[in-house]
Amino acid sequence: MHRKLKNILITGGAGFIGSNLALKLLKRGYKVTVLDSLSQQIHGDNPILTSPLFQSIKDKVIFIEGTVTSKNDWEKAIHGQDVIVHFAAETGTGQSMYEIQKYVDVNINGTAIMLDILANHQHSIKKVVVASSRSIYGEGKYKSVENGIVYPKHRTAFYMDAGDYEVKYPGCKQALELIATDEESKIHPSSVYGITKQNQEQMIMTVCPTLGIAPVAFRYQNVYGPGQSLKNPYTGILSIFSTQIKNGNPINVFEDGKETRDFVYIDDVVSATILGIEKIEANNDLFNVGSGVSTSVLAVAEELVKNYKKNVPINITGNYRLGDIRHNFADLTKIRKILEFEPEISFEQGIKKFTEWVNTQDVENDNYARSIEEMKSRGLYK
Ligand SMILES: NC(=O)c1ccc[n+]([C@@H]2O[C@H](COP(=O)([O-])OP(=O)(O)OC[C@H]3O[C@@H](n4cnc5c(N)ncnc54)[C@H](O)[C@@H]3O)[C@@H](O)[C@H]2O)c1
Repeated sequence: MHRKLKNILITGGAGFIGSNLALKLLKRGYKVTVLDSLSQQIHGDNPILTSPLFQSIKDKVIFIEGTVTSKNDWEKAIHGQDVIVHFAAETGTGQSMYEIQKYVDVNINGTAIMLDILANHQHSIKKVVVASSRSIYGEGKYKSVENGIVYPKHRTAFYMDAGDYEVKYPGCKQALELIATDEESKIHPSSVYGITKQNQEQMIMTVCPTLGIAPVAFRYQNVYGPGQSLKNPYTGILSIFSTQIKNGNPINVFEDGKETRDFVYIDDVVSATILGIEKIEANNDLFNVGSGVSTSVLAVAEELVKNYKKNVPINITGNYRLGDIRHNFADLTKIRKILEFEPEISFEQGIKKFTEWVNTQDVENDNYARSIEEMKSRGLYK
């Protein structure tokens, strides 16, 4: 355990994962500073008064409203800290395909500014924890009869227009078998968001050790739970579906509904991240964080409708978004072994807790159609 790490800066600490982490760290006796721009997409038009995420940490942490694209804001925030947990990011996979400069600027340039300060100025930082993502893997890992382990490229309109959504690999005629993605799996992101996450991770893992700072990267799967922004129509399928259900609107499930993701509950993600902050064994290493279970998007929609007891139709549309992956779930062998992490909340338990929390929140406007229109007008949604 690091006994001397007391002061923790969380960038993006007013966001979903960051705010939950901040509250848990405060309980454990840390002093927490948050640097966050209170982005309108996550926190709405009047964040100071109406963002439940911001309200949850306000008056509990030292809050600096600022952006990771400003050297000044970074310098203010880094002063006197022991650990940086770097969470601030633009996070919409689909949106990253047409707001490329913004994603590169916040995610890559923001990280570069931090590293420049650490490399060129006096500071007290001993550890940097970065939120990487399963999106860096692109399509997951598969076993084939003909070629053993394969990493299929992202899918093309040719097959998907014909209703064939499963991944393909050249020379493999028989169906591919999905297996868990371990940390050694091929890195080949299929979105600009994924590229920026890969870049953040690689820059931090490469530069920090040369400065005597311990880097730790967590490749989070799909995180969900209380606190997730119900305003953001660009990412977070559970919150998007919830807002649709609460508005009495039908849920439109992409493809054939059998696409899967690994949904990991927020408390498990916070626990894993704290192990990364506190355990020396985590230093200079990177870890998958997930539930290790693959769940179809259709099952998510059905489970939500069941929990909200609202009779909205679930339409399987056959539509798809270019850049979306078909399947991916985490192999947790490494994090179990090195950090002794074990996810504790099952999907059924997690969804129950999540929907109970949503029931206590205001119903947000359903802006999902707007995000789809933005993709459609650019040929990214079929
Ligand atoms: N939620 C997931 O499923 C998931 C999965 C994999 C990785 N991640 C990564 O974890 C991190 C946290 O994700 P989250 O779900 O809490 O996202 P979130 O959108 O809820 O929080 C991100 C926070 O960053 C802030 N922010 C955005 N741009 C900023 C800027 N320029 N300067 C300062 N702050 C800025 C936002 O205001 C927001 O409070 C992100 O880096 C994300 O890429 C999340």
